[in-house]
Amino acid sequence: MRIVVLVSGTGSNLQAVIDAVAEGLLDISLVAVGADRPGTFGIERSAAAGIETFVVDFKAFAERADWDAALLEKVLSYRPDYVVSSGFMRIVGPEFIETFPRRYLNTHPALLPAFPGAHGVRDALAYGVKVSGCTVMYADAGVDTGPIIAQRAVEVLDGDTEESLHERIKIAERDLLIETLRQLTPR
Ligand code: GAR
Repeated sequence: MRIVVLVSGTGSNLQAVIDAVAEGLLDISLVAVGADRPGTFGIERSAAAGIETFVVDFKAFAERADWDAALLEKVLSYRPDYVVSSGFMRIVGPEFIETFPRRYLNTHPALLPAFPGAHGVRDALAYGVKVSGCTVMYADAGVDTGPIIAQRAVEVLDGDTEESLHERIKIAERDLLIETLRQLTPR
């Protein structure tokens, strides 16, 4: 099963997927890892693992629609069964969503529909919830609004900072993502 992963940052969840594949715990083919900006550690670690990488730099396009089209074309060139956003911090265009209906997965560090957006962990802490967690879903055209596939709860501890809570959430998120990928069937 061919998977393309999109990242914007450190790609620690992606590393867990790379490791699971290497250890024979997950039977997928990571055909490429792409980013929306140059110089991400997610791309660096993928290249180090021998995975093909690409960058479709958001800032290199004057028009948003041109970036959308370039990203879609690049991803399609790998003929993926599924695309996974693993900390990809851009909303993709409507054509991308239409091209990959229930084939574009996203992870989010909160229990949706609570605390969507770019600061799910910070917003949950600020609200004062005692339990947060992570969500794996199919992305749709909205911000973290697609159909939920799986969720896992993570307790908020006294004295938690955004970093400490996010680290614990990421541990749960990695497991949940790998479990979800294991259950996908080729398209
Ligand atoms: C993950 O926690 C992911 O859920 C989050 O970014 C982190 C990426 O970490 N994504 C979002 O907040 C999207 N709304 P990583 O780059 O170390 O895997």
